[in-house]
Amino acid sequence: MSDRPTMTTTAGAPIPDNQNTMTAGPRGGVMLQDYQLIEKLAHQNRERIPERVVHAKGWGAYGTLKITGDISKYTKAKCLQPGAETPMLARFSTVAGELGAADHERDVRGFALKFYTPEGNWDLVGNNTPVFFIRDPLKFPDFIHTQKRHPRTNLRSATAMWDFWSLSPESLHQVTILMSDRGLPVDPMHMNGYGSHTYSFWNDAGERYWVKFHFKTQQSHKHFTNEEGEALIGKTREGYQEALFGGIERGEFPRWKVQVQIMTEEQAENTSYNPFDLTKVWPHAEFPPIDIGIMELNRNADNYFAEIEQAAFSPSNIVPGISHSPDKMLQARVFSYADAHRYRLGTHYENIPVNQPRCPVHHYHRDGQMNTYGGLRTGNPDAYYEPNSVNGPFEDASSKEPPLKISGDMARYNHREGNDDYSQPRALFNLFDDAQKGRLFSNIAAAMGGVPGEIVERQLAHFKLVHPDYEAGVRAALERLHGYKADTISAQPTAAE
Ligand code: NDP
Ligand code: HEM
Repeated sequence: MSDRPTMTTTAGAPIPDNQNTMTAGPRGGVMLQDYQLIEKLAHQNRERIPERVVHAKGWGAYGTLKITGDISKYTKAKCLQPGAETPMLARFSTVAGELGAADHERDVRGFALKFYTPEGNWDLVGNNTPVFFIRDPLKFPDFIHTQKRHPRTNLRSATAMWDFWSLSPESLHQVTILMSDRGLPVDPMHMNGYGSHTYSFWNDAGERYWVKFHFKTQQSHKHFTNEEGEALIGKTREGYQEALFGGIERGEFPRWKVQVQIMTEEQAENTSYNPFDLTKVWPHAEFPPIDIGIMELNRNADNYFAEIEQAAFSPSNIVPGISHSPDKMLQARVFSYADAHRYRLGTHYENIPVNQPRCPVHHYHRDGQMNTYGGLRTGNPDAYYEPNSVNGPFEDASSKEPPLKISGDMARYNHREGNDDYSQPRALFNLFDDAQKGRLFSNIAAAMGGVPGEIVERQLAHFKLVHPDYEAGVRAALERLHGYKADTISAQPTAAE
């Protein structure tokens, strides 16, 4: 007798032969009753699920968040109290490429974190950039369409990208980061992460603070140039998976210093910019980052599909002491992600092991496809509605966040009015040394290949408003790379209404 386990059907019956189909005679045909064959083929046809509509290509690992600082005066969240250690999952990703895209493409990187706290899952679904391309969620599907394939050519379109960006000057800050060195990190370990949005903290006294989250790489920043990235893609399209998975297998556990910036409600009334605008950072000099702990990744998933592909992150997942803010983009994301998960993974996506909270879960949702609860989530078969007098799970008023004063007439407010799209990109541009600026100019020029002059000029006009050297540098790089000449075109900066 072999000590290997017996192979079975999914119904548990032993399989006598996994090499030879059941046929009528050695030459066939195949018997319909060979259910094992049918099941194998049918199961295979269902192995793929829809890829994420954005951030399809990703790499992930488990780890721990350890809190060393004391921010208990700002938040009651248990996972952020001094000494707390919280198991977590991280998934990094590119935004535009499909599931099979090469890892070393110039793109923003997703930096999605799921903390399995004692009070429920807290997801911080951020990027490796502190800002984003747009500030109004109504523009998100259009923006993403410009990053994906053209409907006719089925190719990505530089024209669509620059047409949209040049008509959306709020994108300048993020475009500058994307085209700078940080737009192509060597791997997930050598980049920062940011919650990007303004979130809120609230404490036991019911006081609210606005907060931004930062994850500073302890491996140092490392980037590739376009040329280095292209050379690497020629050798491997999976460089990030190899680096992250391989590093953790070797016991090299990457770490990020976790920091928060805190703003009081009163301060938020008096900033020169809208503190809930996702295209803006809070300057460090005004809102100094506070060290609160370390995040370490130290365990690979055993089954990439089950644990990383099926991971479902959502900004809607908050815990007592941490909440949202009026940021319009964040508000839209609170809806969008859980909706995406129901489509991509099914009604019970939160019951997939990687998404399951590590604390008791009691709710009154019932039934639905793939319900594997084995009983009601209320823990009581008579408690299938609420309110009830059968001692079913009951609300807990202590998790109610403090009220937020909101005022204003309902309208579609022009998000461009009173908004300065140029100062913060300028502050970033001024951080770059000459070599960094040179690479910024070349990267932009390279990305503008084939774009009509009218669009190029419209974008150059925006660069000029950031800094005359920015426009001049990109123009010179366009001439060098593409023989570009402005000839008769003269454009003014434009923003689509
Ligand atoms: P500071 O000089 O105090 O902060 C600069 C920040 O920029 C640091 O967080 C640093 O991150 C980051 N940084 C440094 N070099 C680069 C680079 N080449 N590309 C992207 N980021 C870089 O200035 P301010 O807070 O006044 O911000 C000035 C500009 O810096 C902003 O307009 C914004 O573009 C950028 N920035 C600001 C952040 C913020 O939260 N205030 C966060 C990230 C960028 P690190 O320490 O990891 O090197
Ligand atoms: C993924 C929507 C803006 C970071 C996704 C997904 C959707 C989505 C539908 C796929 C989810 C899935 O299938 O699992 C939106 C909308 C936005 C927006 C509607 C704006 C209105 C942002 C911003 C950030 C961000 C501003 C970062 C600050 C991410 C990340 C992922 C993702 C990291 C991948 C998560 C993972 O690893 O599974 N987004 N997004 N998105 N988004 Fe957004």
